Amino acid sequence: MVDYKKLGLVNTKEMFARAINGGYAIPAFNFNNMEQLQAIIKASSDLKSPVILQVSKGARNYANQTLLQYMAQGAVEYAKELGCKHPEIALHLDHGDSFETCKSCIDYGFSSVMIDGSSLPYEENIALTKKVVEYAHQFDVTVEGELGVLAGVEDDVVAAESHYTKPEEVIDFVSRTGVDSLAISIGTSHGAYKFTPEQCTRDPKTGKLVPPPLAFDVLDAIMVKLPGFPIVLHGSSSVPQEYVDIINEYGGKLPDAVGIPEEQLRKASKSAVCKINIDSDSRLAFTAAVRKTLAEKPGEFDPRKFCGPARDEMEKMYKHKIQEVLGSDNKLAQMD
Ligand code: G3H
Ligand code: 13P
Ligand code: ZN
Repeated sequence: MVDYKKLGLVNTKEMFARAINGGYAIPAFNFNNMEQLQAIIKASSDLKSPVILQVSKGARNYANQTLLQYMAQGAVEYAKELGCKHPEIALHLDHGDSFETCKSCIDYGFSSVMIDGSSLPYEENIALTKKVVEYAHQFDVTVEGELGVLAGVEDDVVAAESHYTKPEEVIDFVSRTGVDSLAISIGTSHGAYKFTPEQCTRDPKTGKLVPPPLAFDVLDAIMVKLPGFPIVLHGSSSVPQEYVDIINEYGGKLPDAVGIPEEQLRKASKSAVCKINIDSDSRLAFTAAVRKTLAEKPGEFDPRKFCGPARDEMEKMYKHKIQEVLGSDNKLAQMD
């Protein structure tokens, strides 16, 4: 059993409480490799932002869970080396799919886990989530649950709306499971294709797709039911068009990729939404930089020569999110 506190990690309790009171959101960035982790820690340390390092099941399979765990430990030391004496870094399991996966992560030193029972029938979601909470809380590990199903791009608007979180269920779910935060469905979805062109309108000047707004009425209704309770938004990449354009210019094929406009994420950050999940934007930044570098320097075969620019681009993107969208810069409890 690894005690995450001994690794210098923190759970999400304090950072969420301060984020809700302060009207900003904590970034939850996924990582799968060293360059992503370096960029996340550099961005959050330079800007004195608390940060959540997210590890998915896919990341554990790709990078090896032991290695990821030690990388997260190293991240705390790296943040200190960068001049951040008291970093606030949580190591969080993203979309945990079973009690066993959550337990394994807790035993390995994660400070926070998500149990995603959103695709289960309601009572089964409650039973599974409660079981994870009971185990996690013995070790002061925080737990995120999910109610409502994130839309798939194949869903039409009516089907997508029917998957939104039902505000009338949230009090029962939170009180019976004991979760520390709740992921909700209000129109976001995973990946680089969050809406079909048919679901969007087109900006007449640029020809770019303009997605439909998030269901802020559903978020408002949830906040009325659960005042001051931490809410989480998954699927919150904005799919920056400059990255999509670079990828397409240099041989990629991402037609009509579209994300959540940053204006809407900015608005959500000021509410009880205190954790915003971003993964796809990092993938896009990385891919755009790699494609461009390799196209411009076809003789290059040293991975540092294209992973380096990719890392720089991700750091720039993370800093932009922290400073210009989520507002979590200069929000460490101890700023010295
Ligand atoms: O929610 C999904 C995250 O972007 C993780 O994706 O399962 O491909 O690692 P992944
Ligand atoms: P994006 O695909 O929008 O980056 O969402 C990531 C996410 O929700 C991770 O859990
Ligand atoms: Zn997610």
